Amino acid sequence: MENFPSVLESISDLTKRQIDGLMELSQQIKLRPWHPISFPNKKPIIATSFLENSTRTKHSFEIAIHKMGCTYIDFIAETSSLKKGESLEQTLLTLFGQGVDLCIIRSAVSHELAQFKENPPLKIINGGDGTHQHPTQALLDLFTLKEMGIKLKGKTFCIAGDNIHSRVGHSLIDLLPMYGAKVLLFGPEEFLPPVTEESNFEITHSRSEALEKADILYLLRVQKERHSHLESIDMDNYHREYGFNLEMIESLQKKLPILHPGPANIGVEISDDLIHSQYYLGHEQVRHSTFLRMAIIQSILQNGDKSIGFKENTFFNN
Ligand code: NCD
Repeated sequence: MENFPSVLESISDLTKRQIDGLMELSQQIKLRPWHPISFPNKKPIIATSFLENSTRTKHSFEIAIHKMGCTYIDFIAETSSLKKGESLEQTLLTLFGQGVDLCIIRSAVSHELAQFKENPPLKIINGGDGTHQHPTQALLDLFTLKEMGIKLKGKTFCIAGDNIHSRVGHSLIDLLPMYGAKVLLFGPEEFLPPVTEESNFEITHSRSEALEKADILYLLRVQKERHSHLESIDMDNYHREYGFNLEMIESLQKKLPILHPGPANIGVEISDDLIHSQYYLGHEQVRHSTFLRMAIIQSILQNGDKSIGFKENTFFNN
């Protein structure tokens, strides 16, 4: 895809046209999921480096890489020279020197990948950085909605829960208005960002208002690991005031799709009966994740950017 970025850090790195292109490519891949990629002279080598826990993102990328016939390297930060004090940039240049074309990185530090945008040490996809962005999750959510026939234009997309700490939420807030959706954030006061004149979302602390207005409901986990020790959250109380159960959804005069990026905490943001109901699309999100990630890998590998990595050193040649 023309001009596809070499470092995909945020939703704002992509144009609407590029996102539309990703949706089309994902659809083609879904019809032909074994999708070896043709690449001149070599088989692409792709690494993942997950510096924070992951089940869905890491494995769906890994499966995408295998389905595209690429070589996969699982870079384990814990046993690498990062632990000896090597910088992330030198680590990535080392991988580049060894032949790695693309690395999917998850970092606990927000904005850590922005430093690589100007001179990419190799091609990079953000697999989630701190509380900042998780662009591929938001894109796969968009793809899932499209494939389920759920329209966004003019609809209210309610994101419920720990919005302030959620990188998924932040990427969705950037993405959904491009497709005509109104974003409504719901949760306790300490979980919602302030609304300013530039905000492209509204907020509510009322669950009944959220349920009444929502056409699509997206639930977020309470990100306990990102809360300082000063904040203490009583999870039973949280479920009573801010959680959702099947009875609430069934009492509405509409079929409300429920999405969740996972991992879900049953009994906190979502009840056991709701996660096992037909309203819940979490498994469809997982099913569609690999197709979308294959489309992103293909687009980034084929972008033809020649400024990646380091140039061969000829300084001592004569
Ligand atoms: C999310 C993440 O890691 O940002 N999960 C995911 O990638 N599917 C959400 C979370 O951890 O709550």
